[in-house]
Amino acid sequence: MASEPCFDTVLGISSMRYIGGKSLLLDKINGVVSNCSKSIETVVDLFSGSGVVATNFKKQGYRVFANDALRFSYAIIRGTLPLNKPPIFLGLGFNPFDCLNNLTIDYDAVAESRSFILRNYSPYGDCSRMYFQCDNALRLDYARVAIEQWRCEEKITEDEYYYLLCSLILATPSISNITGTYGAYLKHWDSRTYNPLRLEPPTIIDNGAENIVYCRDANELAKTIQADLAYIDPPYNGRQYLPNYHILETLARYDYPIIKGVTGMREYSKEKSIYCNRIKALAGFDDLFSKLDVRYILVSYNTEGLITKEEMSELLKKHGKAKTFQLFEFDYRRYKNKIPNNTEGLKELLFFIER
Ligand SMILES: C[S@@+](CC[C@H](N)C(=O)[O-])C[C@H]1O[C@@H](n2cnc3c(N)ncnc32)[C@H](O)[C@@H]1O
Repeated sequence: MASEPCFDTVLGISSMRYIGGKSLLLDKINGVVSNCSKSIETVVDLFSGSGVVATNFKKQGYRVFANDALRFSYAIIRGTLPLNKPPIFLGLGFNPFDCLNNLTIDYDAVAESRSFILRNYSPYGDCSRMYFQCDNALRLDYARVAIEQWRCEEKITEDEYYYLLCSLILATPSISNITGTYGAYLKHWDSRTYNPLRLEPPTIIDNGAENIVYCRDANELAKTIQADLAYIDPPYNGRQYLPNYHILETLARYDYPIIKGVTGMREYSKEKSIYCNRIKALAGFDDLFSKLDVRYILVSYNTEGLITKEEMSELLKKHGKAKTFQLFEFDYRRYKNKIPNNTEGLKELLFFIER
Protein backbone atom coordinates (compact mmCIF):
# COMPACT_ATOMS: atom_id res chain seq x y z
CA MET A 1 0.00 0.00 0.00
CA ALA A 2 1.35 3.48 -0.90
CA SER A 3 2.14 5.78 2.03
CA GLU A 4 -0.14 8.81 2.40
CA PRO A 5 1.77 12.08 2.83
CA CYS A 6 1.79 13.41 6.42
CA PHE A 7 2.16 17.06 5.47
CA ASP A 8 0.24 19.71 3.60
CA THR A 9 2.18 22.50 1.96
CA VAL A 10 -0.07 25.44 1.20
CA LEU A 11 0.89 29.09 0.60
CA GLY A 12 4.49 27.94 1.16
CA ILE A 13 3.67 26.77 4.70
CA SER A 14 4.22 23.15 5.76
CA SER A 15 1.89 21.74 8.39
CA MET A 16 0.91 18.39 9.81
CA ARG A 17 -2.11 16.65 8.30
CA TYR A 18 -4.69 17.21 11.02
CA ILE A 19 -8.34 16.26 11.48
CA GLY A 20 -10.33 19.39 10.65
CA GLY A 21 -7.13 21.18 9.55
CA LYS A 22 -7.83 24.26 7.45
CA SER A 23 -4.85 24.26 5.09
CA LEU A 24 -7.23 24.12 2.11
CA LEU A 25 -9.32 27.01 3.41
CA LEU A 26 -6.57 29.58 4.01
CA ASP A 27 -7.26 31.66 0.90
CA LYS A 28 -10.98 31.89 1.84
CA ILE A 29 -10.11 32.88 5.42
CA ASN A 30 -7.64 35.50 4.16
CA GLY A 31 -10.27 36.84 1.78
CA VAL A 32 -12.80 37.38 4.58
CA VAL A 33 -10.26 38.93 6.96
CA SER A 34 -8.87 41.31 4.35
CA ASN A 35 -12.40 42.58 3.61
CA CYS A 36 -13.03 43.77 7.19
CA SER A 37 -14.15 47.39 7.20
CA LYS A 38 -11.60 48.45 9.86
CA SER A 39 -7.96 47.46 9.67
CA ILE A 40 -6.81 44.38 11.56
CA GLU A 41 -3.55 44.30 13.50
CA THR A 42 -4.00 41.49 16.02
CA VAL A 43 -5.65 38.11 15.55
CA VAL A 44 -6.35 35.36 18.07
CA ASP A 45 -6.71 31.74 16.91
CA LEU A 46 -8.35 30.02 19.88
CA PHE A 47 -8.34 26.41 18.60
CA SER A 48 -5.07 26.28 16.68
CA GLY A 49 -4.60 22.50 16.14
CA SER A 50 -1.81 22.07 13.58
CA GLY A 51 -1.13 25.83 13.73
CA VAL A 52 -1.60 26.28 9.99
CA VAL A 53 -4.11 29.14 10.33
CA ALA A 54 -2.13 30.95 13.04
CA THR A 55 1.03 30.62 10.93
CA ASN A 56 -0.86 31.87 7.90
CA PHE A 57 -2.02 34.93 9.89
CA LYS A 58 1.58 35.54 10.94
CA LYS A 59 2.62 35.33 7.30
CA GLN A 60 -0.02 37.94 6.45
CA GLY A 61 1.75 40.28 8.89
CA TYR A 62 -0.75 40.28 11.77
CA ARG A 63 0.36 39.97 15.37
CA VAL A 64 -0.95 36.55 16.42
CA PHE A 65 -2.11 34.92 19.65
CA ALA A 66 -2.63 31.17 19.30
CA ASN A 67 -4.05 28.59 21.66
CA ASP A 68 -4.94 24.92 21.90
CA ALA A 69 -5.84 22.72 24.87
CA LEU A 70 -3.53 19.90 23.73
CA ARG A 71 0.17 19.90 24.67
CA PHE A 72 1.49 18.58 21.37
CA SER A 73 -0.39 21.24 19.45
CA TYR A 74 0.96 23.86 21.85
CA ALA A 75 4.50 22.50 21.42
CA ILE A 76 4.29 22.65 17.62
CA ILE A 77 3.05 26.24 17.60
CA ARG A 78 5.14 27.42 20.56
CA GLY A 79 8.21 26.18 18.68
CA THR A 80 7.66 28.50 15.72
CA LEU A 81 5.03 31.24 16.12
CA PRO A 82 6.77 33.39 18.80
CA LEU A 83 10.14 33.11 17.02
CA ASN A 84 11.08 35.66 14.37
CA LYS A 85 14.41 34.01 13.57
CA PRO A 86 15.68 30.44 13.98
CA PRO A 87 17.51 29.78 17.26
CA ILE A 88 21.29 29.38 17.21
CA PHE A 89 21.83 26.98 20.16
CA LEU A 90 24.77 28.95 21.53
CA GLY A 91 24.61 27.26 24.95
CA LEU A 92 24.69 23.81 23.45
CA GLY A 93 27.82 24.39 21.40
CA PHE A 94 26.84 21.91 18.68
CA ASN A 95 24.08 21.41 16.13
CA PRO A 96 21.26 19.52 17.92
CA PHE A 97 19.77 18.30 14.64
CA ASP A 98 23.05 16.60 13.66
CA CYS A 99 23.19 15.08 17.12
CA LEU A 100 19.57 13.85 17.22
CA ASN A 101 19.72 12.50 13.67
CA ASN A 102 22.83 10.44 14.38
CA LEU A 103 21.96 8.74 17.65
CA THR A 104 23.56 5.34 18.25
CA ILE A 105 20.91 2.71 18.92
CA ASP A 106 21.97 0.45 21.77
CA TYR A 107 19.39 -1.98 23.15
CA ASP A 108 21.78 -3.16 25.89
CA ALA A 109 21.80 0.32 27.39
CA VAL A 110 18.05 0.93 27.33
CA ALA A 111 16.97 2.38 30.68
CA GLU A 112 13.35 1.77 31.66
CA SER A 113 12.81 5.43 32.50
CA ARG A 114 14.01 6.49 29.04
CA SER A 115 12.14 4.10 26.79
CA PHE A 116 8.41 4.69 27.23
CA ILE A 117 7.69 4.74 23.50
CA LEU A 118 9.84 1.68 22.80
CA ARG A 119 8.26 -0.38 25.58
CA ASN A 120 4.68 0.58 24.83
CA TYR A 121 4.30 1.38 21.15
CA SER A 122 6.66 -0.98 19.31
CA PRO A 123 7.00 -4.78 19.26
CA TYR A 124 9.75 -4.78 21.88
CA GLY A 125 9.82 -7.24 24.81
CA ASP A 126 6.28 -8.35 25.60
CA CYS A 127 4.65 -5.38 23.80
CA SER A 128 2.96 -6.27 20.50
CA ARG A 129 1.77 -2.81 19.42
CA MET A 130 3.02 -1.84 15.99
CA TYR A 131 2.98 1.99 15.94
CA PHE A 132 6.75 2.26 15.36
CA GLN A 133 9.63 0.04 14.32
CA CYS A 134 11.72 -0.59 17.46
CA ASP A 135 14.70 1.46 16.23
CA ASN A 136 12.52 4.47 15.55
CA ALA A 137 10.67 4.11 18.87
CA LEU A 138 14.03 4.20 20.63
CA ARG A 139 15.15 7.18 18.55
CA LEU A 140 11.98 9.01 19.65
CA ASP A 141 12.74 8.19 23.29
CA TYR A 142 16.41 9.19 23.03
CA ALA A 143 15.58 12.44 21.27
CA ARG A 144 12.77 13.35 23.68
CA VAL A 145 14.91 12.63 26.74
CA ALA A 146 17.90 14.54 25.31
CA ILE A 147 15.78 17.63 24.61
CA GLU A 148 14.41 17.52 28.17
CA GLN A 149 17.89 17.05 29.63
CA TRP A 150 19.35 20.00 27.71
CA ARG A 151 16.54 22.14 29.07
CA CYS A 152 17.05 20.94 32.68
CA GLU A 153 20.78 21.65 32.39
CA GLU A 154 19.92 25.12 30.99
CA LYS A 155 21.92 24.46 27.84
CA ILE A 156 18.99 25.54 25.68
CA THR A 157 16.55 28.41 26.01
CA GLU A 158 12.77 27.98 26.23
CA ASP A 159 12.47 29.00 22.55
CA GLU A 160 15.12 26.42 21.60
CA TYR A 161 13.43 23.72 23.69
CA TYR A 162 10.11 24.17 21.88
CA TYR A 163 11.81 24.55 18.49
CA LEU A 164 13.33 21.07 18.97
CA LEU A 165 10.13 19.60 20.43
CA CYS A 166 8.18 21.00 17.48
CA SER A 167 10.63 19.38 15.08
CA LEU A 168 10.37 16.02 16.90
CA ILE A 169 6.56 16.03 16.91
CA LEU A 170 6.36 17.06 13.25
CA ALA A 171 8.78 14.26 12.30
CA THR A 172 6.82 11.54 14.10
CA PRO A 173 3.86 10.98 11.71
CA SER A 174 6.35 10.27 8.89
CA ILE A 175 7.56 7.12 10.68
CA SER A 176 4.23 6.09 12.27
CA ASN A 177 2.43 2.92 11.19
CA ILE A 178 -0.96 4.61 10.94
CA THR A 179 -3.33 5.95 8.31
CA GLY A 180 -3.61 9.45 9.74
CA THR A 181 -4.47 9.28 13.43
CA TYR A 182 -3.23 7.23 16.38
CA GLY A 183 -6.68 5.71 17.06
CA ALA A 184 -5.33 2.47 15.55
CA TYR A 185 -2.14 1.06 14.05
CA LEU A 186 -1.81 -0.98 10.88
CA LYS A 187 -1.42 -4.76 11.15
CA HIS A 188 1.35 -4.77 8.55
CA TRP A 189 4.32 -2.40 8.37
CA ASP A 190 3.79 0.60 6.09
CA SER A 191 6.87 1.33 3.96
CA ARG A 192 7.34 4.76 5.64
CA THR A 193 8.05 3.10 9.00
CA TYR A 194 11.36 1.72 7.71
CA ASN A 195 12.79 5.24 7.21
CA PRO A 196 14.86 6.40 10.18
CA LEU A 197 13.39 9.23 12.26
CA ARG A 198 14.72 12.49 10.85
CA LEU A 199 14.31 15.88 12.53
CA GLU A 200 14.32 18.99 10.32
CA PRO A 201 14.64 22.59 11.55
CA PRO A 202 11.14 24.13 11.31
CA THR A 203 10.75 27.15 9.01
CA ILE A 204 10.47 30.47 10.84
CA ILE A 205 8.51 33.43 9.46
CA ASP A 206 9.45 36.92 10.68
CA ASN A 207 6.50 39.28 11.21
CA GLY A 208 8.42 41.57 13.58
CA ALA A 209 5.75 41.18 16.26
CA GLU A 210 5.49 39.58 19.67
CA ASN A 211 3.34 36.53 18.99
CA ILE A 212 2.15 34.51 21.98
CA VAL A 213 1.01 30.89 22.31
CA TYR A 214 -1.19 29.45 25.07
CA CYS A 215 -2.22 25.97 26.14
CA ARG A 216 -5.53 26.73 27.83
CA ASP A 217 -9.20 26.01 27.65
CA ALA A 218 -10.44 28.50 25.04
CA ASN A 219 -13.36 29.71 27.19
CA GLU A 220 -11.01 30.42 30.07
CA LEU A 221 -8.46 32.19 27.89
CA ALA A 222 -11.06 34.27 26.04
CA LYS A 223 -11.72 36.62 28.93
CA THR A 224 -8.02 37.53 29.22
CA ILE A 225 -7.25 38.30 25.56
CA GLN A 226 -7.86 41.42 23.52
CA ALA A 227 -7.52 41.34 19.73
CA ASP A 228 -9.07 42.81 16.59
CA LEU A 229 -10.34 39.47 15.30
CA ALA A 230 -10.96 36.06 16.84
CA TYR A 231 -10.76 33.00 14.60
CA ILE A 232 -12.72 30.12 16.11
CA ASP A 233 -12.33 26.58 14.76
CA PRO A 234 -13.38 24.09 17.45
CA PRO A 235 -14.16 20.40 16.95
CA TYR A 236 -17.51 20.14 15.17
CA ASN A 237 -18.52 16.56 15.98
CA GLY A 238 -18.33 14.01 18.81
CA ARG A 239 -14.82 12.90 17.92
CA GLN A 240 -12.37 13.97 20.65
CA TYR A 241 -8.90 15.01 19.49
CA LEU A 242 -6.82 13.61 22.36
CA PRO A 243 -7.50 9.88 21.68
CA ASN A 244 -6.79 10.41 17.99
CA TYR A 245 -3.38 11.93 18.75
CA HIS A 246 -2.65 10.22 22.10
CA ILE A 247 0.92 9.21 21.25
CA LEU A 248 1.87 12.73 20.09
CA GLU A 249 0.36 14.04 23.32
CA THR A 250 2.40 11.57 25.37
CA LEU A 251 5.53 12.45 23.40
CA ALA A 252 4.94 16.13 24.16
CA ARG A 253 4.26 15.55 27.86
CA TYR A 254 6.57 12.51 28.31
CA ASP A 255 4.80 11.93 31.61
CA TYR A 256 4.79 8.11 31.74
CA PRO A 257 0.98 7.86 31.78
CA ILE A 258 -1.00 4.77 32.71
CA ILE A 259 -2.15 3.40 29.39
CA LYS A 260 -4.58 0.68 28.42
CA GLY A 261 -6.22 -1.27 25.64
CA VAL A 262 -5.08 -2.43 22.24
CA THR A 263 -3.87 1.03 21.29
CA GLY A 264 -2.22 1.91 24.63
CA MET A 265 -4.53 4.87 25.19
CA ARG A 266 -3.81 7.35 27.95
CA GLU A 267 -6.66 8.36 30.30
CA TYR A 268 -8.51 11.41 28.97
CA SER A 269 -11.98 11.33 30.55
CA LYS A 270 -11.24 14.54 32.51
CA GLU A 271 -9.89 16.29 29.42
CA LYS A 272 -12.84 15.99 27.06
CA SER A 273 -13.73 19.01 24.98
CA ILE A 274 -17.21 20.44 25.53
CA TYR A 275 -17.31 21.21 21.80
CA CYS A 276 -17.68 17.47 21.11
CA ASN A 277 -21.05 17.37 22.92
CA ARG A 278 -24.09 18.99 21.31
CA ILE A 279 -25.72 20.44 24.44
CA LYS A 280 -22.48 21.61 26.00
CA ALA A 281 -21.19 22.98 22.69
CA LEU A 282 -24.14 25.32 22.21
CA ALA A 283 -23.73 26.70 25.73
CA GLY A 284 -19.95 26.77 25.18
CA PHE A 285 -20.21 28.96 22.07
CA ASP A 286 -22.63 31.29 23.86
CA ASP A 287 -20.22 31.64 26.77
CA LEU A 288 -17.19 32.05 24.49
CA PHE A 289 -18.77 34.76 22.31
CA SER A 290 -19.90 36.67 25.39
CA LYS A 291 -16.35 36.72 26.82
CA LEU A 292 -14.48 37.78 23.68
CA ASP A 293 -13.01 41.26 23.67
CA VAL A 294 -12.63 41.52 19.88
CA ARG A 295 -14.12 43.62 17.08
CA TYR A 296 -14.69 40.72 14.66
CA ILE A 297 -15.54 37.05 15.10
CA LEU A 298 -14.85 34.50 12.37
CA VAL A 299 -16.08 30.94 12.99
CA SER A 300 -15.21 27.83 10.95
CA TYR A 301 -17.74 25.02 11.04
CA ASN A 302 -19.36 22.63 8.60
CA THR A 303 -22.80 21.37 7.66
CA GLU A 304 -22.32 18.06 9.51
CA GLY A 305 -21.53 19.77 12.83
CA LEU A 306 -23.32 19.27 16.15
CA ILE A 307 -24.66 22.84 15.90
CA THR A 308 -26.83 23.68 12.90
CA LYS A 309 -26.10 26.53 10.52
CA GLU A 310 -29.24 28.30 11.76
CA GLU A 311 -28.31 27.92 15.44
CA MET A 312 -24.80 29.29 14.86
CA SER A 313 -26.14 32.22 12.84
CA GLU A 314 -28.67 33.14 15.54
CA LEU A 315 -26.10 32.85 18.30
CA LEU A 316 -23.62 35.10 16.50
CA LYS A 317 -26.28 37.71 15.75
CA LYS A 318 -27.09 37.75 19.46
CA HIS A 319 -23.46 38.67 20.18
CA GLY A 320 -22.82 41.10 17.32
CA LYS A 321 -24.30 43.63 14.91
CA ALA A 322 -26.84 41.56 12.96
CA LYS A 323 -26.51 43.73 9.85
CA THR A 324 -22.78 42.89 9.57
CA PHE A 325 -23.40 39.13 9.71
CA GLN A 326 -22.16 37.13 6.71
CA LEU A 327 -22.15 33.41 6.00
CA PHE A 328 -19.84 31.88 3.40
CA GLU A 329 -20.30 28.32 2.16
CA PHE A 330 -17.69 26.29 0.29
CA ASP A 331 -17.67 22.74 -1.02
CA TYR A 332 -15.70 20.61 1.40
CA ARG A 333 -12.36 19.57 -0.10
CA ARG A 334 -10.36 16.62 1.08
CA TYR A 335 -6.83 15.61 0.19
CA LYS A 336 -6.51 12.28 -1.54
CA ASN A 337 -3.08 11.51 -2.94
CA LYS A 338 -2.41 15.26 -3.02
CA ILE A 339 -5.42 16.00 -5.26
CA PRO A 340 -8.25 17.84 -3.50
CA ASN A 341 -11.62 16.16 -4.20
CA ASN A 342 -15.13 17.13 -3.21
CA THR A 343 -17.19 15.14 -0.73
CA GLU A 344 -20.82 15.09 -1.88
CA GLY A 345 -23.07 17.60 -0.10
CA LEU A 346 -20.71 18.54 2.74
CA LYS A 347 -20.03 22.28 3.00
CA GLU A 348 -17.39 24.23 4.90
CA LEU A 349 -18.94 27.24 6.63
CA LEU A 350 -17.37 30.55 7.59
CA PHE A 351 -19.51 32.78 9.82
CA PHE A 352 -18.45 36.40 10.19
CA ILE A 353 -19.81 39.17 12.40
CA GLU A 354 -18.74 42.51 13.84
CA ARG A 355 -19.38 42.87 17.58
C1 LIG B 1 -10.83 21.67 14.16
S1 LIG B 1 -9.39 21.55 15.16
C2 LIG B 1 -8.54 23.02 14.73
C3 LIG B 1 -7.83 22.88 13.43
C4 LIG B 1 -6.92 24.04 13.11
N1 LIG B 1 -7.65 25.25 12.77
C5 LIG B 1 -6.00 23.66 11.95
O1 LIG B 1 -6.19 24.17 10.85
O2 LIG B 1 -5.13 22.80 12.16
C6 LIG B 1 -9.99 21.86 16.76
C7 LIG B 1 -8.93 22.01 17.85
O3 LIG B 1 -9.58 22.48 19.03
C8 LIG B 1 -8.89 21.99 20.16
N2 LIG B 1 -9.81 22.12 21.30
C9 LIG B 1 -10.93 21.42 21.56
N3 LIG B 1 -11.56 21.91 22.62
C10 LIG B 1 -10.82 22.95 23.08
C11 LIG B 1 -10.97 23.86 24.16
N4 LIG B 1 -12.02 23.81 24.99
N5 LIG B 1 -10.03 24.82 24.32
C12 LIG B 1 -8.95 24.89 23.48
N6 LIG B 1 -8.77 24.04 22.45
C13 LIG B 1 -9.69 23.09 22.24
C14 LIG B 1 -8.52 20.59 19.76
O4 LIG B 1 -7.43 20.11 20.54
C15 LIG B 1 -8.20 20.73 18.27
O5 LIG B 1 -6.82 20.89 18.07
